[in-house]
Amino acid sequence: MAKHNLDPNYLDPDYEPVVNHSGNKAFQEVLAARVQRRTLMKGGVGAALASIMGVGLAGCGSDSKSDNNGEGTTPDADNTKATDLGFEAIAVSTANTVVVPTGYSARAFLPWGTPITGSYPAFRADASSSGADQEQQVGMHHDGMHFFPIDFKAGGNRSDEGLLVMNHEYINQAALHPDGPTYNQNGMRPTDEVRKEIAAHGVSVVHIKQDSAGTWDIVFGSPFNRRITGNTDMDIRGPVRGYQKLATRFSNNGTQTRGTLNNCSMGPTPWGTYLAAEENWHGYFANSAQMQPREQTRHGVGSSTRYDWELAEGGNDQYVRFNITPTGRSGADDYRNEANTFGYMVEIDPFTPESKPQKRTALGRFGHEGVIFAPVEEGKPVVCYSGDDSRFEYIYKFVSSRPYYAATASGYLLDEGTLYVARYNEDGSGDWLSLSLDDPDFVSRIEAAQGSTVGEVLFEGFENQADILLNTRLAADIAGATPMDRPEWGAVDPNTGEVYFTLTNNSQRTEEQVDAANPNAENRTGHIIRWSESENDYAGTGFQWDIFVFAGEQGTETVADGEVMVSLTDDNIFNSPDGLWFDYNGRLWIQTDGSDAPPYQNNMMLAANPETRDIRRFFVGPQGCEVTGVVTTPDVKTMFVNIQHPAKDWPFGNEGDHPRDATVIVTRNDSGVIGA
Ligand code: FEO
Ligand code: CA
Ligand code: CA
Repeated sequence: MAKHNLDPNYLDPDYEPVVNHSGNKAFQEVLAARVQRRTLMKGGVGAALASIMGVGLAGCGSDSKSDNNGEGTTPDADNTKATDLGFEAIAVSTANTVVVPTGYSARAFLPWGTPITGSYPAFRADASSSGADQEQQVGMHHDGMHFFPIDFKAGGNRSDEGLLVMNHEYINQAALHPDGPTYNQNGMRPTDEVRKEIAAHGVSVVHIKQDSAGTWDIVFGSPFNRRITGNTDMDIRGPVRGYQKLATRFSNNGTQTRGTLNNCSMGPTPWGTYLAAEENWHGYFANSAQMQPREQTRHGVGSSTRYDWELAEGGNDQYVRFNITPTGRSGADDYRNEANTFGYMVEIDPFTPESKPQKRTALGRFGHEGVIFAPVEEGKPVVCYSGDDSRFEYIYKFVSSRPYYAATASGYLLDEGTLYVARYNEDGSGDWLSLSLDDPDFVSRIEAAQGSTVGEVLFEGFENQADILLNTRLAADIAGATPMDRPEWGAVDPNTGEVYFTLTNNSQRTEEQVDAANPNAENRTGHIIRWSESENDYAGTGFQWDIFVFAGEQGTETVADGEVMVSLTDDNIFNSPDGLWFDYNGRLWIQTDGSDAPPYQNNMMLAANPETRDIRRFFVGPQGCEVTGVVTTPDVKTMFVNIQHPAKDWPFGNEGDHPRDATVIVTRNDSGVIGA
């Protein structure tokens, strides 16, 4: 049915306004004598692709054979390494089905609407389930996901039972209801439709287990099964907690809020909790006042919302709050500050079902794509990285003030620390610039910027550290960060410690705006950047970076020191890398959310050997989808991959089906390690 084919609400960031007008030109003029620009297309449409230096990354390309403490690939008798790829690349595909290599199987699991809690209300194929039903069913638009072994807290590593936790980024309104979203004569929306839409957002925690035949299923009645939605009560933690710019009618003292929205990627913490990212939250709030505060303008909050929840009939406070136009005397009287309670990383403890989610404000407020933790060491700070997925936005790093000790570690470690933003220098070095009032350099930059126009607003300083974190993007402008081509997921190589980030694309970068780290004007296909922290000190302030691979058509080359490191072929052309994950052996999995036109066709997932840069297409999704979210069991023998916004009747193909986002379970027919 045509109305279900494509998601009309799919928010392609390419059609969003650029909201970074800071004019950070740190690198616009420094273009790289050493960046050799070459036209590399073989009869293609003439994309000019850059190559870039090798910067001699320390430890790059370990030849150690990781056996991950007995899990993962067992070293072979021959010379194969744990990161080598052992499957044959599959071709691009336009089929409305998942394609995997010969010797592998795939099946859909946990589709949108699967009952997981409460009275386990059955999914209705005509999408007529109620809002209350949806609160007990798997949400829509699956994204970031992690598998926690059920015995994690006891130090175990079980691969046959665990908690699968996943984000539901946004919704396809047309598919969510029998006839799409409706309005009454007054232009208001039925309350239960709005309730259902909010409930289809958020996070699902699903206790899953393999039976004796190896088939995965939900553990019905498990106390761990849980839905967290756009309406679940949450605490604000960290420096922004209690700041007067967060006061609302719901929480006069600015310490609480309701819900998490637009949860894209995620990050499992070293202590067994799950951080869900709030990415494109700005589209859920409307402010029709003539002047907006900088907390909104720098994110693109508009005068109407994506789904019109503020128009729910009945004036219920839970829905009214999405209209953030001031109406009362102060923030505590209305919802002018509601959007200031979004844009964070949200910590969820899947092993404590009654726990309240915690918004960790010390990690900054922006369009968080996800978060990735560096390996932890006893007595050292906790370090994590997060990208801000919008054109010309930045990559951040958080370093905790307090040291990590496995026995006592918990979310409090994320409440005190320093937030840094990345500057990529043209010579392959990089600097972490602190956004802390304790840093005299940053303070002097604030003083110098005071009274001038930063972006489109007159900069009049920050009240305190809470104000800096609330306005993280603005603080990063002032610090002099490098505007990137839409940072998406990050991943840390378990063998070398290098940090990788996808830069998905940026069609609006001009020739004048290219820099060494973002060297392509009109970057439509994206690239993957990586770095090593200086002296392997994750908490330090210097790093060395290079580009792992440029995405693109056949013949697209990535060149280091004059040597072609990768030249893309039919086996591995891809565009717009988004999801990124190192498995427990050190194979890198790259997922795409790009053009599904030729030559790329449907979105896909590829595997890469980070040492050799051998890249092979492993998985192609059905029509219309993006492939996002990947994790395996600790033994790397079951892989979970999410399919978001599929078209048509996927996955079940019954006449009249609404499309259903789902997790795909991939296994090897010989029960071997995935990718090996
Ligand atoms: Fe939700 Fe940046 O992808
Ligand atoms: Ca993404
Ligand atoms: Ca994307």
